[in-house]
Amino acid sequence: MKQINSLTGMADLIEDKSKPDELAIKVFHTEETLKKIFKSFAMSEIRTPALESTNLFKRSVGDTSDIVNKELYTFSDKNDKSITLRPEGTASVIRSIVEKKLDGETHKLWYMGPMWRYERPQKGRFRQFYQAGVEILGYPEGTSEFEMISLVCELNRKLLIKKPLIRINHLGDSETKKLFCDALVKYLTPMKSDLDEKDMQRLDNNPLRILDSKNPKTQEILNKAPSISEYLPNGAKELLRSIQELFSDKCEIEIDYNLVRGLDYYTGFVFEAISAELGAQDAYLGGGRYDNLCLQLGGKSLPAIGMAIGIERLALISNQKYKNNTLVSFIIISSNSESKAYKIAHELRSINNNIDIDVQLSQGSLKSKLRRANKDGASYAFIVGDEEIKSKTVVVKPLNDKDTEQSVMKLKEIQKFIENLS
Ligand code: HAM
Repeated sequence: MKQINSLTGMADLIEDKSKPDELAIKVFHTEETLKKIFKSFAMSEIRTPALESTNLFKRSVGDTSDIVNKELYTFSDKNDKSITLRPEGTASVIRSIVEKKLDGETHKLWYMGPMWRYERPQKGRFRQFYQAGVEILGYPEGTSEFEMISLVCELNRKLLIKKPLIRINHLGDSETKKLFCDALVKYLTPMKSDLDEKDMQRLDNNPLRILDSKNPKTQEILNKAPSISEYLPNGAKELLRSIQELFSDKCEIEIDYNLVRGLDYYTGFVFEAISAELGAQDAYLGGGRYDNLCLQLGGKSLPAIGMAIGIERLALISNQKYKNNTLVSFIIISSNSESKAYKIAHELRSINNNIDIDVQLSQGSLKSKLRRANKDGASYAFIVGDEEIKSKTVVVKPLNDKDTEQSVMKLKEIQKFIENLS
């Protein structure tokens, strides 16, 4: 029969411990490191469903955004309700906080999970991808901006990212945004015919997004365009400068007045971190302040700031080295006392958390099992047969050190031996 393959842009991630540079292994390790970092910032976990009402994303991410316009995985359920696989996590977090009536409190939250966007797949861009996100709710502009960039610097440090660049900008308040957009439209309208179709549409629907255009001709036209910096209140510019100063010894931070984000809910400070190693899809995280979203989704007025990290992209550029636990390959060669031999493995497993015990489940000769143990990268083979069951012993064969002979250990001795392994 014809085999069935995964959908375009949706990768299987399969852990293969013997290939530490494979993306899957790096993704899983990166997730563990991120969880530790979030915990070290005293953040709490939130999990929301992968499926939401389509309207949630239309009302938050915005129906002029590329994500909502072109990239949503939207279906009708059996009740003809329009539902969507989440393209991002922020909207769901705020929906949940409003629904649970927690919008009168402050929160520091993190989440991790798959997101879906129907994009053209390329290096670092998938249709199902994984994000880790952080949302800090209930604090107006100020220290929480510092907390966000501190978190970015910390993950750059822990994951050993080479030459990261953090770009920051401020979109001002709604008044600033309106004045600037009007000025931009006034400047661009006489040159409308020089814009490509996408930028022409943006001019009508969402002029700010033109600043993000990848078209070189548009970028040239934008060289002489008005800058948002001319419209920003002093406080906003001061915030950008103080962030730059505060972290200058930790990370390279650039003020980029052309930085706009692809989601409509942003209201003030915005940022992205990029790495040249990633190629065209160079942003490995992005975020900003979105003080109006909670009100927009039917809740109270709740100031908020957050960010999301593209886990595959971060894993691709991470140079963190991970140490695997010591692996013991447990080989049973008794046909009569398999359960008794297995019991020994079961007891030994609970002794030391830094040791992994892999009981070989296949039938076969001792020779083939030892070959397998070597291939898996085991440091020791523990061998148990009828003889060992009778004498309450285990044969311990070191696999990394060819000069050390195998030894026979009593069960009490082997417990001590495992305790002392690191
Ligand atoms: P975003 O910029 O759309 O922001 O996505 C954040 C990150 O997710 C990107 O910087 C990128 O690393 C990764 N990403 C996005 N699309 C893909 C894709 N197709 N394949 C692989 N990685 C991808 C948000 O999602 C906002 N919710 C961030 C936020 C949280 N703002 C406030 N709170």
